[in-house]
Amino acid sequence: MTARETDFLVIGSGIAGLTTALSLAQHGHVIIITKSNQEACNSYHAQGGIAAAIGEEDSPELHLEDTLRTGVGHADGDSVEMLVRMGPEIISLLADWGTPFDRDGSKFALAKEGSHSKARILHVTGDATGKGIIDSLLLEIRKHPSISFVSHTMVVDLIIQDGECAGVYTVDKETDITQYYARHGVVLATGGCGQIYQHTTNDLVSTGDGFAMAYRAGAELTDMEFVQFHPTALHIDQNPMFLISEAVRGEGAVLVTEDHTPFMHKYSEWGDLAPRDVVSRAIFQETMEGHHVYLDATKLTVDFANRFPTIFTACMEVGIDPRVDLIPVTPAAHFMMGGVKTDLSGQTTIPRLFACGEVARTGVHGANRLGSNSLLEGAVFARKVALTIASLSKRTVKPLQEIEVSVRLCNNKQKEEQWKQQIQQVMWKYAGISRTKLGMEKGLQELKSISDQIPSSYLESQNMLQVAQIVLQAALWREESRGGHYRSDYPKTEEIWASRQYIVEENQQHESHSIASIHS
Ligand code: SIN
Repeated sequence: MTARETDFLVIGSGIAGLTTALSLAQHGHVIIITKSNQEACNSYHAQGGIAAAIGEEDSPELHLEDTLRTGVGHADGDSVEMLVRMGPEIISLLADWGTPFDRDGSKFALAKEGSHSKARILHVTGDATGKGIIDSLLLEIRKHPSISFVSHTMVVDLIIQDGECAGVYTVDKETDITQYYARHGVVLATGGCGQIYQHTTNDLVSTGDGFAMAYRAGAELTDMEFVQFHPTALHIDQNPMFLISEAVRGEGAVLVTEDHTPFMHKYSEWGDLAPRDVVSRAIFQETMEGHHVYLDATKLTVDFANRFPTIFTACMEVGIDPRVDLIPVTPAAHFMMGGVKTDLSGQTTIPRLFACGEVARTGVHGANRLGSNSLLEGAVFARKVALTIASLSKRTVKPLQEIEVSVRLCNNKQKEEQWKQQIQQVMWKYAGISRTKLGMEKGLQELKSISDQIPSSYLESQNMLQVAQIVLQAALWREESRGGHYRSDYPKTEEIWASRQYIVEENQQHESHSIASIHS
């Protein structure tokens, strides 16, 4: 057993983790722990971009209005206000740190996406925004002497001492345990949990580890029934599925059935640029009626290969030329709106434990996220977390002599894969785009029987299982449809559910009415 000590511990290396680390580096030593390589995260794969109200005809008020409307009356007004107001300064900060945002003459180029009333999406190399941001943050971080990176290392659990989060411990394949202690605090920036679904755009690392470890430590999680299904993953059986950015529809592409018939006008006055939950359900409905769904980008006025080079290459590799062919698309799990409950400074319900990025439920997304608000949320709340955690007094580190560890890292990836697939199939079938009470109860039973069989050494599967159960319980509780949560047995959005949250803690579940939404 080894023990290491630092000022700040950051778990995860997406935009939230890296921005937190860079912001903290002037205040002390930072260790970033990441379970794979430094680029394996959803932020890295983000295509469309990052939203901010910087256009001449735009304003934070309009950005706020779009975010709240898209969140279907379930977003937290104060959080959204902070998000949109800090948007422009975050873009300047990222540009100062080296992100080469695309330009239109002397100004930043701005694109349109679904449910945005204005063009406000900044991008890098057309559709490689996440890569552009993460590469530049990593370059800055590598120059910084007070930031250390520990990669390919799986955090097992948080260490809680005297009611506070004191650190984490990791285990390697040789079963060696390392305890990491933080004098100021620990930041969870572990990303999402898309891998609990059979069809997802999320990186293979997105197994929900942060949600699961916060839950086991007793932190409150909420809004876990709100999963976003992105409408347009490339319809080819692969994990993760390749995303066809919403920005392609922003440039004029249209969803059609096999006979080239557009259909989105039947479902929303926003047509092809309706919010993602609406578009995903429309595609689901068309599929139920026996259609195949495609994206028709053949009539774009921009040069596809130049505007969307990553998507162009991926399509051409599988024999689809988006300039002349229809692109087969299908919805896939993309983003978790819920998560570890935080306040405006990213503080969770456990002292000295902070969360930002997708693992956090900051209240900005409500029941459905507005496109390109996730990179913005990650960076905005990372700045807030850094400010708060740096101002905390140092605690005295008391390394434990022994940690009771019942888990050992599984080194049979192939075997573990089979368990993961079972969980993914259950979740896709029973907790996907359309849910029912009967189906979700069946899903919970099936997960229970899987849980009786998975060896405890399969850490990622155990985390996936725990998160999957939480999602199903929360979705069963919410007897209405709202945003990403659609129940065919309760198809209406009911006013009485607008401000209700299902709070999950280990061994406890309760309700809260604490959302202060500007809409409610
Ligand atoms: C996209 O480019 O469509 C995805 C970006 C996002 O999830 O906001």
